[in-house]
Amino acid sequence: MNWKLQATMLSAAMLIAAPAAFGDAAEVYAKNCASCHGKDGKGETTMGKKNKVKDYTDAKAQESFTDAEALKVILEGKEKMKGYKDKITAEEAADQVKYVRAFKK
Ligand code: HEC
Repeated sequence: MNWKLQATMLSAAMLIAAPAAFGDAAEVYAKNCASCHGKDGKGETTMGKKNKVKDYTDAKAQESFTDAEALKVILEGKEKMKGYKDKITAEEAADQVKYVRAFKK
């Protein structure tokens, strides 16, 4: 690979990582959660529909669980969702709670 291509890829990678506020959380979510809950949090994916996940843009759905409950589910799992305590840190899990909250319209 020549250096120009490498430089282009590097700047592309930096651009993708850019959205500062939720940078890492967005990445963790996209990699681990979007397959069921959807990139937009609506859960309109094949897996999401099959498992009847809630629409996180819906205020009522957001009110149906507390931050503490959400954190517990993310770490330990619920129904078809397995826990992530072996995959992400407690801090990352707390960021996921905030990330999920941010879907609310
Ligand atoms: C295999 C599909 C699947 C994946 C992957 C998944 N979830 Fe879930 N999730 C579910 C299901 C099923 C439930 C339980 C049904 C519900 O409450 O909507 C749930 C529940 C939740 C809840 C609690 C909602 C409540 O009502 O108690 C939160 C918060 C949540 N998921 C966030 C995440 C996050 C963050 C990730 C990634 C780290 C993730 N989920 C990955 C399927 C999944």
